[in-house]
Amino acid sequence: MTDSEQTSVVITGANKGLGFEAARRLGKQGWTVFLGSRDEGRGRAAADKLAAGGADVVLVPLDVTSDESVAGAVRLVREHTDRLDVLINNAGAPGNIVAPADATAEEVHAVYDTNVYGPIRVTHAFLPLLRAARHPRVVMVSSGGGSFAVVTDPQQPVSKMHELAYSSSKAALNMITIRYAQALPEIKFNIATPGEVANRKFAATDMNHHTGQLTVTEGTDSIIGLAILGPDGPTGVFVDRLGPVAW
Ligand SMILES: NC(=O)c1ccc[n+]([C@@H]2O[C@H](COP(=O)([O-])OP(=O)(O)OC[C@H]3O[C@@H](n4cnc5c(N)ncnc54)[C@H](OP(=O)(O)O)[C@@H]3O)[C@@H](O)[C@H]2O)c1
Repeated sequence: MTDSEQTSVVITGANKGLGFEAARRLGKQGWTVFLGSRDEGRGRAAADKLAAGGADVVLVPLDVTSDESVAGAVRLVREHTDRLDVLINNAGAPGNIVAPADATAEEVHAVYDTNVYGPIRVTHAFLPLLRAARHPRVVMVSSGGGSFAVVTDPQQPVSKMHELAYSSSKAALNMITIRYAQALPEIKFNIATPGEVANRKFAATDMNHHTGQLTVTEGTDSIIGLAILGPDGPTGVFVDRLGPVAW
């Protein structure tokens, strides 16, 4: 069982990229990190790396598109703790960036399964453990692409990225987060985007073929900031590492 004073966090998609960096940073703070990975081998390698650096880390096989996998993840976490302080819904998929004229419902559905239904599946399953914590927080990892204000700004590169699935999935995730925040005031639900929206910067990861201008550490600043919020922190906000992001 996890020490009752030790803060615990579940991070989805934590085997690489921003999820892994968030796991590394929170592990360094002495938190118990439940490192979610849909592939057990990749997750094991990531967890071993953090454990070698002294982190208290538990590998949790977790595919956010599978009810069965999510239920298994909750069972495993329950073997270690009877409460969960923080859930970071980080796992995300870009889809194939298909032009709107060519997009099919099937293609969009696959992206929603990870980016929209995934966070709902995981949040719903972990609610009882979150509710058992004193100051539970849920961090949703969204995108500037999920903001109507950003996508309709011609100065923003994303305004010229013609696709349906990814941006609309993150817009849906933003609304879902607000609805959770309104309905469950005892849990803080907030949204982080890893980039610097005003400066049109994003973080270099596999998802963007490492074309981003920010490091993964900079990319996780907003995620970490929301994860470590105190009891008087906000709920229902959308931020990047520089501050609030327009909806
Ligand atoms: N990089 C940026 O600047 C940026 C900007 C805006 C938003 N984001 C968001 O940040 C989050 C992390 O992305 P990243 O940049 O770190 O990309 P990444 O390096 O490609 O990492 C994505 C992670 O999500 C996991 N994942 C995908 N589908 C999954 C599923 N069904 N179940 C569980 N895990 C799954 C991946 O696992 P596998 O290794 O098994 O594929 C991987 O661990 C995403 O939600 C993304 O949309 C990133």
